[in-house]
Amino acid sequence: MTIRRLAVLTSGGDAPGMNAAIRSVVRTAVHHHVEPFGVRNGYRGLMNGDIEPLTNRAIGGIMLRGGTVLGSARAPDFATDAGRDKAIDHLERLGIDGLIVIGGNGSQSGSLSLHNTGFPTVGVASTIDNDLSLVDTCIGVDTALNTGLALIDRLRDTATSHHRAFVVEMMGRKSGYLALMAGIASGAELICTPESPVPIEAVIETVQAAHAIGKNHFLVVVAEGSPLTAPAIVDALNGDKCFEARLSVLGHVQRGGAPLAFDRLLGSRSAAVAVQALLRGQSGELAGLAKGEITLVPIADAILPSRKVTPELLGLGDILSR
Ligand code: F6P
Repeated sequence: MTIRRLAVLTSGGDAPGMNAAIRSVVRTAVHHHVEPFGVRNGYRGLMNGDIEPLTNRAIGGIMLRGGTVLGSARAPDFATDAGRDKAIDHLERLGIDGLIVIGGNGSQSGSLSLHNTGFPTVGVASTIDNDLSLVDTCIGVDTALNTGLALIDRLRDTATSHHRAFVVEMMGRKSGYLALMAGIASGAELICTPESPVPIEAVIETVQAAHAIGKNHFLVVVAEGSPLTAPAIVDALNGDKCFEARLSVLGHVQRGGAPLAFDRLLGSRSAAVAVQALLRGQSGELAGLAKGEITLVPIADAILPSRKVTPELLGLGDILSR
């Protein structure tokens, strides 16, 4: 099937670099004489028919901005047949014959369901959670990691000055990737993720060992979805009394801000590969960085559990924290 018109949407949690990907979708489409359309607010906008034509000029100057100029949303209704039918009706009414979905794991499950109905759909891997399998690093991860790291470094300064413990909660309800990487890069004494539950006894053992060897601060990086929560760790540390403990929840600040060069380039390159795939007649594929190359992987495989929080990385964090 020849693609004459394509639409692009951003879905799920926004990620720095999404705008570079939108810009690249539009300009690559125009380069190939295909008319680009933008969908507002992810799958919710798709179900409501909130779709408008885009031009090269309309998306000028967006690459350096954080967030997504198209808007994003969480749209559980899209998982229903009725939701998907509504979305496809709107696309067909506008003569749009292909869709590019920029987003993470949940968003790409939506792409797969559209592909399975026969509507040509290609994904672009974008989420600060880095929770897509077969993809090394998704759009947004590098910037979010650097944002988080810069904040943790500041907390470490005050922790050292006051001989305190700081428990820093990072984003990631289901994925501990950001916490793990920020923990290693900041030299945290302890890292807790949803994938690697840490018992409270281990926290106490670690803090006592750190105190015994003369450390004058204790830094714990905890992912949002860790079974042992950040406030529970603070309480345990204050009960133990080696270090007075404070809590710092970084929250959505990690998702905002201007994308770093890595994410601008990743967004630009991945989205171009996605558009080219769609124009070649491919569907059900995800464009992203895999084994160091911008390439396509099947969405069905990419949405399987990503297993990036490995025992090796956790072990490294532990060894380097002594
Ligand atoms: O999708 C990325 C993410 O930032 C997760 O790390 C976090 O758990 C979740 O989104 C927060 O979602 P919301 O912005 O809907 O509160």
